[in-house]
Amino acid sequence: MNKQINWELYSAYMYLSMSAYFNSIGMAGFASWMRVQAQEEQLHAMKLFDHIVARGGRVHLMEIAQPPLEWSSPTNVFEETYKHEQKVTALINDLVSLAKSEEDYATKNMLQWFVDEQVEEEESASEVFEKIKLVGTDGSGIYILDKEMGLRSFTPPKKAE
Ligand SMILES: [Fe+2]
Ligand SMILES: [Fe+2]
Repeated sequence: MNKQINWELYSAYMYLSMSAYFNSIGMAGFASWMRVQAQEEQLHAMKLFDHIVARGGRVHLMEIAQPPLEWSSPTNVFEETYKHEQKVTALINDLVSLAKSEEDYATKNMLQWFVDEQVEEEESASEVFEKIKLVGTDGSGIYILDKEMGLRSFTPPKKAE
């Protein structure tokens, strides 16, 4: 669980780096989309953090790895994003298996939220990946897609308890 907190924080860090990359190439809409993505990953980390605290465990924060600084193209960013989310899904699935084998049903239930979330994460990453592949290097297509990407906004979660 502590390792997964680190993965979620790394995800936030990586998406923030992708956001900076998009800013550096003048794609403000994509940059904003990635910034929202980074905020969501921080929430994922906190969800795990809060669960550990609620169950009387000890949160152990670890060093966050340095994310890449450059990507070869906007398409490459989404190729990597999709791969990254698939990797995270596999890690979540491993945690679910572990919770099951340890008969920790509370954790297994909590993790179900992540299982559902990963379906959305993979779907949105692959959706953008497909769109950006379709547009390719067409300037006006990129322009329109960038505008569309900029529409995503961050919605803070409702107080659950
Ligand atoms: Fe996440
Ligand atoms: Fe994610």
